Amino acid sequence: MSVKLAPSILACDFTRLGEEIAAIASAEYVHVDVMDGLFVPNISFGLPILAATKRAAKAGQFIDVHLMIERPERYLADFAAAGADGLTVHVEATPHLHRAVQMTKALGKRAGVVVNPGTSLETLRPVLSDMDLVLIMSVNPGFGGQAFLPEALGRVRTVRGWLDEIGSAAELQVDGGVTAENAQALADAGASVLVAGSSVFGADGAAAGLSRLRTALTERAI
Ligand code: DX5
Ligand code: ZN
Repeated sequence: MSVKLAPSILACDFTRLGEEIAAIASAEYVHVDVMDGLFVPNISFGLPILAATKRAAKAGQFIDVHLMIERPERYLADFAAAGADGLTVHVEATPHLHRAVQMTKALGKRAGVVVNPGTSLETLRPVLSDMDLVLIMSVNPGFGGQAFLPEALGRVRTVRGWLDEIGSAAELQVDGGVTAENAQALADAGASVLVAGSSVFGADGAAAGLSRLRTALTERAI
């Protein structure tokens, strides 16, 4: 099974947003990190940047919106209208996780749920069979460029086991500190989508960053 890549535009040069997105046209997903300064200690961007991202993305590229906001159910319809294909909400951000998932599906979008490194994986269980995507954070959310937390590997393995057990085709995504060095280990653990910010939008450009990740993921198969 080939692993999909989801460059996070949080790490891009926003003065050149269109060009940066063009440089990642070969990526299956475009990962859009929305932060509200409450759920996480940082504010990133919101609806206008999402709409611009959607316009700049290649037709068919999946616009993957990671909502690091309190009570995300308040804004699901707005993010759907602005161009999201998938909406991923934190289990820690709402007492109405099940409702948020159902709302996302009713909007015709793919429903994702994400857990922070300090949150029990058991919180995923009640909604697991409804999921289109499960995201395991491998850093504490809020900032790009943090070091990968290696315990995420075991957490990916656990959730991969659960998804396989129920015959779920949901994507299993990992976000935070993903590099060419740990990409293959994450794929081996069962991840199907890797988010990467700073390791893609580096000094030598996003196209080079993306191809480094692809190479790391294919090298062993050759
Ligand atoms: C962190 C965000 C990530 C971030 C990843 O809160 O959810 O998507 O952009 O950045 P890197 O790959 O640099 O850790
Ligand atoms: Zn993210």
